[in-house]
Amino acid sequence: MMNTLVCITPGQLEYREQAVPELKEGQALLAIKRIGICGTDLHAYEGTQPYFSYPRILGHELAAVVAEPGSAAGFAKGEAVTIIPYFHCGNCIACNNGKPNCCTSMQVCGVHVDGGMVEYLAVPAGALVHGGELGYDELALVEPLAIGAHGIRRAAVQPGEFVLVIGAGPIGLGTMEFARIAGGQVIAMDVNESRLFFCREKLNVKHTINAAAPDAEEQVREITGGQMPTVVIDATGNLRAINHAFRYMAHGARYVLIGLQKGDICFSHPEFHKREGTLMSSRNATRADFEHVMNSLARGWVQPATYITHRVAFNEVKDRFASWLQPETGVIKAMVELG
Ligand SMILES: NC(=O)c1ccc[n+]([C@@H]2O[C@H](COP(=O)([O-])OP(=O)(O)OC[C@H]3O[C@@H](n4cnc5c(N)ncnc54)[C@H](O)[C@@H]3O)[C@@H](O)[C@H]2O)c1
Ligand SMILES: [Zn+2]
Ligand SMILES: [Zn+2]
Repeated sequence: MMNTLVCITPGQLEYREQAVPELKEGQALLAIKRIGICGTDLHAYEGTQPYFSYPRILGHELAAVVAEPGSAAGFAKGEAVTIIPYFHCGNCIACNNGKPNCCTSMQVCGVHVDGGMVEYLAVPAGALVHGGELGYDELALVEPLAIGAHGIRRAAVQPGEFVLVIGAGPIGLGTMEFARIAGGQVIAMDVNESRLFFCREKLNVKHTINAAAPDAEEQVREITGGQMPTVVIDATGNLRAINHAFRYMAHGARYVLIGLQKGDICFSHPEFHKREGTLMSSRNATRADFEHVMNSLARGWVQPATYITHRVAFNEVKDRFASWLQPETGVIKAMVELG
């Protein structure tokens, strides 16, 4: 038997004993070591995550060791791994075009199917990624960093260009890091001064702007020498912020939406037309993004340990979870430890 933490219904978490999963064809069995807590988990608990069904075991930012390699050729028992939690069909137009990150029948681990808040988890063998020299904390941070790395790859950031990243939560922070690694000059924008302070102090971001300042647009113009940024990225998931940011685009700019909200986007067609703008969404990440992130971690280009503001043992998660929804706790990333 093993311990699991189930989100029974919004607002209610419960530890439940379950049988250790039996390995099926095509799977590997993992012993979970770390679970990073993400906005998706918090929104699922709040009951504000669209298309979520309960009961559900949350958790998709995982570090683990291989308990039984099963069908995972080339993986050894006891090896440290992370997983690509976007379980895909392998057979649809997106999968066939090398974009399993937007598979037409996506099953995200811990969202559409039960996830990692367990001692043992059986996953498709193809989801495993060798952990190499990375520690468990770093392995659990690969997935959220890969979201930003993917957005930056979508934008095809070129050395020297200005990249405005709006939203400095865990996703936006990772996006800023990979914009810098691509050679971009990062401008961070948020409404939360403490997050902007974090960008300056921990990420060495030179330009930070409070989005609520009446002269925010003027500040963007000044920093970019009157040109405006050629890459704008939303990492807020806030509809007003998304609609508002079209005005920050330089002529010929790309605008990439990593953030996600439920409503309809609305913008001026003539303004967009005269810029010959490119608008893109960015969903999940691919194995290439995971590899880029892991290589960057191994070289010390990214040091995301500073994002971990809260650390708890698995048996404390139930009592602490609700507090992570409170802005006063100052959570950037909460990390759960097992074993
Ligand atoms: N592309 C993907 O596949 C993917 C994966 C994970 C998360 N996401 C999305 O990324 C977004 C960010 O996730 P997160 O966990 O970092 O969220 P978060 O809530 O921790 O961070 C969002 C930040 O945006 C800031 N913000 C809010 N309104 C703003 C405004 N009007 N102007 C400027 N800043 C504003 C907030 O102060 C906060 O710091 C969410 O929409 C989430 O759903 C996308
Ligand atoms: Zn996540
Ligand atoms: Zn598919």
